[in-house]
Amino acid sequence: MSAQAGPTGVPRRRIAIDGPAGTGKSTLARTLAERLGGAYLDTGAMYRVATLQVLRAGIDPEDAAAVIAASADLPMEIGTDAGSERILLAGEDVSDEIRTARVTAGVSAVSAVPEVRANLVGLQRRLASGGGTVVLEGRDIGTVVLPDAEVKVYLTASPEIRARRRTEQDLAAGRDADYDEVLAAVIERDRKDSTRAASPLRPAEDAIVIDTSDLTLDEVLDRLVALAEGADASHGDAAEGNTQ
Ligand code: DC
Repeated sequence: MSAQAGPTGVPRRRIAIDGPAGTGKSTLARTLAERLGGAYLDTGAMYRVATLQVLRAGIDPEDAAAVIAASADLPMEIGTDAGSERILLAGEDVSDEIRTARVTAGVSAVSAVPEVRANLVGLQRRLASGGGTVVLEGRDIGTVVLPDAEVKVYLTASPEIRARRRTEQDLAAGRDADYDEVLAAVIERDRKDSTRAASPLRPAEDAIVIDTSDLTLDEVLDRLVALAEGADASHGDAAEGNTQ
């Protein structure tokens, strides 16, 4: 993990934040990018858009061959502005629709297809290739998308805490949510995401693992800012351990 100049000559600071759903990852990654004045990319949203396209085409997400055909040409536009979530599919703003239970239920199958991943990983690397600070949030950023990122963090928390947070988030956003159902879905999605053959969910060997179960968002954010600033200062000799 080292800080080098990017193609524009601006020092590069690529921050990979991985982990399962419900760890506060999205809020933290977005807030961190804002705090550092950097760009932000929600890679989970990209898999969700691919899933929406598959569902709109009437295709079963488990039918890998049909999924590949339906998502090969994905008319998606995704911004890297930390201050606004704007994701378009064929020109239509789908930022709410990609969060529905229907899309969430299909996304593990779609994101397990290697061809879908190759397509989206290429796009993610292009979006992260400028100079300056960029925060990428996902499941395989530190292991596959940017294995040489300057900062790699893996956020985790117990399934019960993650299900409680997800339920509260959904209710606050006006979506239906039942804790027991959310918990079952969290456990099932973890199982699928971490046992799939293509880029399974796991911490990179050199990632800093932060268990957020007993921490507030602000406490985690402070740690992330300190890690990012440490990467600035170290310019090449990141001597962090891999647990915190
Ligand atoms: O973070 P999220 O819940 O929006 O992600 C949706 C799904 O996309 C998740 O079940 C796993 C998948 N995903 C992935 O496989 N790789 C990523 N880099 C990001 C998300």
